[in-house]
Amino acid sequence: MSLSVIILAAGQGTRMKSDLPKVLHPISGLPMLHYTLKAAQALSDDITVVLYHQADRVRENIEKSFEGIKFKIQDHANYPGTGGAVMNIGMLHDRVLVLNGDMPLVTAESLRPLLMSDADIVMSVFDLDDPSGYGRVIVEKGEVQGIVEEKDCSEEQKRIKTVNAGVYIFKKEILDRYLPLLSNDNAQAEYYLTDLVRLAREEGRHIEPVWVEEEAFKGVNSRYDLAHAEEIMQERIREKWMRAGVTMHLPHTIYIDSRAVFEGDCILDNGVTIHGESIITRSHIKSHSVIEDADIKDSSCGPMARVRPGSILEKTHIGNFVEVKKSHLKGVKAGHLSYLGDAEIDEGTNIGAGTITCNYDGVRKYKTKIGKNVFVGSDTQFVAPVTIEDNVLIAAGTTVTEDVREGSLAISRTPQKMVANFFHRFFKTGKK
Ligand code: UD1
Ligand code: MG
Repeated sequence: MSLSVIILAAGQGTRMKSDLPKVLHPISGLPMLHYTLKAAQALSDDITVVLYHQADRVRENIEKSFEGIKFKIQDHANYPGTGGAVMNIGMLHDRVLVLNGDMPLVTAESLRPLLMSDADIVMSVFDLDDPSGYGRVIVEKGEVQGIVEEKDCSEEQKRIKTVNAGVYIFKKEILDRYLPLLSNDNAQAEYYLTDLVRLAREEGRHIEPVWVEEEAFKGVNSRYDLAHAEEIMQERIREKWMRAGVTMHLPHTIYIDSRAVFEGDCILDNGVTIHGESIITRSHIKSHSVIEDADIKDSSCGPMARVRPGSILEKTHIGNFVEVKKSHLKGVKAGHLSYLGDAEIDEGTNIGAGTITCNYDGVRKYKTKIGKNVFVGSDTQFVAPVTIEDNVLIAAGTTVTEDVREGSLAISRTPQKMVANFFHRFFKTGKK
């Protein structure tokens, strides 16, 4: 791989109207910059991310997930702008790919057409009916003659429909020669990387425009763009998993984190949400269930179930309004209306409707352990910490506060009292 990559991520992202740096806004579960970095890593072993605004925060985030990335703090006070951003960066290779950190939809695949050319500068462009917001590219005889930023455009130039997608490949010697010649004599008083193209052209350098797929090169500048980018990302994720053998009913209503994994035959009904690093194997997730960082194998969930982080379900069925948190359920049925948190529940056990593990005393969390073949009657509360051995019957309405031995019945409800004719006396119905 004889390519160095520079990712521009120093801008403030003013149009996001956010305290969070733009490149850390998540799309399908990951900060948008992570996607750009993954595309870069597929092409290069020499990647520099240019930072300035909230640099420490962005850097810390990247270093948690990526290794071997270099960082450069832009001299923003003296050299603002995309041109300023690429100044004084040491690069290993003779060709340099410049990417924007706010382009989460770009993939290594979509960049390949740019890599084919060996022009002095290769520029990504596309044609738009409404080119507003982008720099306009002047192409004559197959060569880029220059780029004019919208704020510097004449009325005539504003009508140009070919725009700068913002990704370039420069020969390193081009950067070395022309970066020192940039000036900030423009509407924004910034050093534009796009001016470098004009300077190089003036000296007869070969600048090739490469028309790229608009969708992959969309820049995210506002929350509206962010939402739109996420929709495109979701479509990609769903298509990938459908092709890999996941059935989806009304796929456009299903949300899947980019880190989620499916194995074997899986079915997702409409309105399902899969967050985090969930792993779903040979399972059916029914309508409107929410799965978060959970491992679900040979099981069915929902409709309207919630499986929270740290949960493992194996050969298990949970039904509507069942919430599971940090629990391991193996061969269990919990059909309706339950909260199972910090629990371990073993094979053949049936959890009646309305069962609650009371796992929290206001200060600490405690575990509930339930063995094999336990029949838990409806409306049971397990006040943790508590252990239920195998082959146990818990009567409906029981509050379990003590461990229950193998083979026992646990019952804690008060005996039923009967008062004949009470209804008629109370409501004075006249019947005796
Ligand atoms: C830029 C291009 C424009 C192109 C558009 C495509 C320039 C002058 N203009 O405009 O021709 O059509 O991208 O999306 O290059 N950044 C820095 N340091 C800075 C300023 C920006 O690192 O001082 C980074 C930003 O974080 C961002 C990227 O550079 O990731 C692009 O900056 P942005 O302000 O979005 O440029 P555009 O106005 O979109
Ligand atoms: Mg932009």
